[in-house]
Amino acid sequence: MGSFEDKNVLVTGASTGIGRAIARHFGRQGANVAINYYSNREEAEETKQQVLETCKQIEECGRKAVLVQADVSKEEDVDRLFKETLSGIGGLDILINNAGMQIEGASHEIDIEDFDQMLAVNLRGAFLCARQAIRHFLKHKISGVIINNSSVHQEIPRPGYLGYTVSKGGMENMTRTLALEYARDQIRINAIGPGATATPINDWATDEEARSKVANFIPMGRVGTPEEMAIAAAFLASDDAAYITGQTLFIDGGLTLYPSFRDDVT
Ligand code: NAI
Repeated sequence: MGSFEDKNVLVTGASTGIGRAIARHFGRQGANVAINYYSNREEAEETKQQVLETCKQIEECGRKAVLVQADVSKEEDVDRLFKETLSGIGGLDILINNAGMQIEGASHEIDIEDFDQMLAVNLRGAFLCARQAIRHFLKHKISGVIINNSSVHQEIPRPGYLGYTVSKGGMENMTRTLALEYARDQIRINAIGPGATATPINDWATDEEARSKVANFIPMGRVGTPEEMAIAAAFLASDDAAYITGQTLFIDGGLTLYPSFRDDVT
């Protein structure tokens, strides 16, 4: 694994779950980290503690860390996010598009606002951040890296989560298209595709019974950890992956291997 000594990294949605693990992982590998977070007023208090904990861990490594509140779905917020990131940690080499959300609902009943919101945060937000990062990389001739946090659901249809699966399917094409468009500029764009991971986005994460049901469905018999996702993201961002672009690395305990075909049913 390459070292991230003196690399500048921005992680969106980094106050919880996988984003937090990614920010912590990069910090431990020597990177300066900009931690983006977004929440409503009540959630912000909770988020703040988690963000400060994350920041404390990074500072213990003797690195720079800044917190930047921003809604990644809003263009003006993203513009400010990048300004504050650049002034806060002094540059940008790696963008991790991690922020995401999901709203469950039967497709014939879901509110259009909910559908739009999933696309706005998961896909538009990732694009707005990628656009800013690429502008910065081109301007300063940086061989930058973008890692999109997609999902197994960029491949696997998930009834009841239409907006989410559409956003992640779009993310796959965004990853591939941007990778091709900027390959000659030595800018690499890849994605991680987590399987079921115990984080706040999933109701089952704190419900023991539901969690073991989910684990049972996974070929390897357990859910993933945020740290396992962070290690994969860091690999794709590292020089060890210098010849990899436009790919999605699934970290899913075998979930994309058609688990229902594991047993012979004939
Ligand atoms: P999480 O709920 O802990 O993290 C999502 C983060 O995105 C939160 O910190 C939230 O505040 C932030 N966020 C939401 N809306 C935002 C906005 N408008 N602007 C900025 N930040 C915003 O859940 P988790 O699992 O850590 O999710 C991180 C990413 O991983 C998401 O993109 C999710 O789709 C993806 N993922 C998660 C899986 C899982 O099983 N946990 C599986 C596959 C993908």
